[in-house]
Amino acid sequence: MAGSSKPPVVISRRRVLAAAAAVSSQIVVRRPASAEAQSAPATRTASLDLDRFVEDCVKASSDSDPQQAVLDALARGVRDPRAMLLALGEPQEAGIRVLHRSKALTIFSAAWTPQMNLMPHNHLMWANIGIYTGREDNILWRRTPDSIEAFGAKALFQGQSTALGADTIHSVTNPLGRFTGGIHIYGGDFFATTRSQWNPETLSEEPSDGAAIRRMFERENERMRGRGRS
Ligand SMILES: [Fe+2]
Repeated sequence: MAGSSKPPVVISRRRVLAAAAAVSSQIVVRRPASAEAQSAPATRTASLDLDRFVEDCVKASSDSDPQQAVLDALARGVRDPRAMLLALGEPQEAGIRVLHRSKALTIFSAAWTPQMNLMPHNHLMWANIGIYTGREDNILWRRTPDSIEAFGAKALFQGQSTALGADTIHSVTNPLGRFTGGIHIYGGDFFATTRSQWNPETLSEEPSDGAAIRRMFERENERMRGRGRS
C-alpha cells in the first residue's frame, strides 16, 4: 500500500484497527448532521474553499495519526453540507472528481444516482467518507472461509463523516430518489491499488476492475437520461 512504509502510518493503522475492534462495527459515525446547518437560511451559507479544504487534508495526512487527523478535517468540511455542495455543485450525474492524488493520499468527490448500488469491495487502505448531499447506506461485510457475509450496516446522512479500517469490505447504496454526493479520502493511491470486489449475486471474489466500474457509472447515467425522457 502506498505510504504504508512510513512507521507512523503503520502505528496509526494499528490504532485505528484497535479502535474499530473495540466496537462491534468497523464503522463509526463521527458527527451527527447538524440541525443548525440543516435549518440555517440559505443566504447565510458561503461556499467552502475547496483548495483550502484539500490543503487541510494533505497537511493532516502527515499527522502521527493521519486517518484521525484527516477525518477531523473532513468532518469540518462537511459539517455544513451546503457549503461543500456550493463548492462542488449539485450532482447531475454519477461519477467521481479527483481533488488530490498522491502515493499517500487520494481525495475525490463521488456522486451516486438515485437508488444506485455499488457491489461489495475493499480498499486495502484506510478510508474516510463524508456526505455533503443525500444519504449513503453501507452494508459491512466480513470474510468467511469461503466467501464473505454481511454483519452490519450504517446509514450516513449529509453532514456526517465516518472512518473505515484498512480491512473493511463494504457495499454502498443510495436509497434516495435524488443524487447523493460524498467526499472519499484514502490513505494511499486508491487508483494504483489492485483491490477486490465481490459479485453482488454470487459473492465470488474478483480483482477490482476500474473499466467495469466506469461502465457501471455510464449505465447509471444512461438510466437517468432514460428516466428524463420518459
Ligand atoms: Fe468503498
